[in-house]
Amino acid sequence: LGIAFGIFAVTFLLGSIPWGVIVSKTIYHTDIREHGSGNIGTTNAMRTMGKAGGAAVFLLDFSKGLASGAIAWGCAHTAPPDAAILTPALMGAVAAWGCVYGHIFSPWLSFKGGKGIAVAIGALFVTFGWIGACIELFAVFALLVILTRYVSVGSIAAAVACPFVAAVLFWGDWPAIAVYALVGATVVWAHRSNIARLASGTESRIGSKKGTA
Ligand code: G3P
Repeated sequence: LGIAFGIFAVTFLLGSIPWGVIVSKTIYHTDIREHGSGNIGTTNAMRTMGKAGGAAVFLLDFSKGLASGAIAWGCAHTAPPDAAILTPALMGAVAAWGCVYGHIFSPWLSFKGGKGIAVAIGALFVTFGWIGACIELFAVFALLVILTRYVSVGSIAAAVACPFVAAVLFWGDWPAIAVYALVGATVVWAHRSNIARLASGTESRIGSKKGTA
């Protein structure tokens, strides 16, 4: 299982790079954590820094996910499996979980961080393939965002859908599906403040400037 731990460690470190904080501090001379929802991700970057800042944070976070997926892909195609259980699908799942976990529990931010959506999309584009990622992205995330105008509702729905899409793609590979369930559960947990705001009717909708931590 050395390869699995190695993939998790490297993708965790990659995921932990807090691009939202870096971009806000270096380019906009402010700290994204002190504005809007306080989150370091794309949605709050849009609120805080506008479209260009939001796009920059999305692309940088998305790239962390892509790179993590690429690491798993590279391992699956070069390293001989050190245990029968370590399938390419499981390597991909571990990489997706590693970068999402590193993003949400970043050591550089005292083990706080973002909510893992952009980074997960990047990873899933490699590990689910583009068709699986598009089901997550358009059929679940975008549809829910359009219907509710809450980004968080789309994010939570896509996170819940993650293990089900994994089950369709990797049917029978239960360890991989279980790790994708962990990815989804970690993302839902990261949205606990959004869930509380949705329940109390104070979550900010797209187009609204307000939003609290
Ligand atoms: O991807 C994060 C999104 O689901 C919610 O972000 O800033 O509204 O908490 P935010």
